[in-house]
Amino acid sequence: MVRLSIIVPTYNEAENLERLVDGIFKTLRSSNFELIIVDDNSPDGTGKLADELASKNRNIIVVHRPGKLGLGTAILDGVAVSRGEIIGVIDADLQHPPEVLKTMLERAEEGADIVVASRYVDGGRVEGWSWLRKIISKGALWLSHLFLPQTKNVKDTLSGYFLFKKDVIKDATIDVKEFKLLIEILAKGRYEKVVEVPYTFRARIAGKSKLGTKQIFSYVKQLLRLSDYRILKFMTVGVSGIVVNNGILWLLVSLAIMSPFFAEIFSIESSILSNFALNNFWTFRGRKSGGIIYRLLKYHGSVLVGAVVNYLVFVLLLAAGLHFLVANTIGILIGFVFNYLLSETFVWRWV
Ligand code: GDD
Ligand code: MN
Repeated sequence: MVRLSIIVPTYNEAENLERLVDGIFKTLRSSNFELIIVDDNSPDGTGKLADELASKNRNIIVVHRPGKLGLGTAILDGVAVSRGEIIGVIDADLQHPPEVLKTMLERAEEGADIVVASRYVDGGRVEGWSWLRKIISKGALWLSHLFLPQTKNVKDTLSGYFLFKKDVIKDATIDVKEFKLLIEILAKGRYEKVVEVPYTFRARIAGKSKLGTKQIFSYVKQLLRLSDYRILKFMTVGVSGIVVNNGILWLLVSLAIMSPFFAEIFSIESSILSNFALNNFWTFRGRKSGGIIYRLLKYHGSVLVGAVVNYLVFVLLLAAGLHFLVANTIGILIGFVFNYLLSETFVWRWV
């Protein structure tokens, strides 16, 4: 019985593959595992090399695909033929040191459902990255925590080096048009314990990275989808709030019911109430920390800054001679950014 299936996606890794396979066998010597190489018809002959390795070792399985079909689906095609209860994913280019697999497997055997090899826990680090690549990586990490609060306790959500029990994804529809499989599993899988193990992401010795700007867009798309398009819903609600705010202001002012300075207060409050209702029953539906009154009060607290900004900009621009609806719209937009951040992190906080 195979216990662990290690999946190695390869595209043009002929110079690295043999060393990696050696490293894995050295590290996991006594464990019961299989190694599944998924090659996308690499022009450099990686597939042929993999076949040679497999002919000498029956623990190696090779999956050949007709062309470069993407990292995410490569891993899933590996999962499809795997026999182990635990799945491991590791890059072929030696940037993920295979020695770490031993500790990772121990953690899984001790009860972790997902084990992430992590650059961002104590003892982990990155070798030879430019400051730009560091910033992009940290920014991407921050985005995953913002959009998918259920991943907040994982320090390296973008890791490409991890183990998971196959049961975790048994009932989930894992969709990987995009390539960040770990995020997909963290967002959709069923699991209790995630553990991170530090490692040093090494500089590439041979070959080159296949990830670029295209992947950044695909990553953002993936986050939007996994987060149920929450930020877009929030923006839609925001737009409806602009209509409510300006609509009430226009009514009160054009019917001469009160002075613009009072009318502005009423119209801002109306839009706060309508925004709260829509966000509560739509955008953040399902998140219920505290009672609705408590949340309504917290929401008021969180939009207070935005509302005051809205009001002050309105008064200022009105005094500067702008039309009252234009003044108000500009005020709303400036106040908006504050509101979103506070809603995500404070009012509808993930508990
Ligand atoms: N079969 C197949 N098909 N393999 C692919 C494809 C593909 O389309 N694209 C990339 N690979 C293989 C590479 O050959 C390599 O073994 C591995 O997937 C990772 O590709 P790299 O191009 O080396 O990615 P990276 O080093 O920039 O990023 C990696 O590490 C990051 C940090 O852990 C990836 O694993 C990222 O997902 C991860 O965030
Ligand atoms: Mn790499």
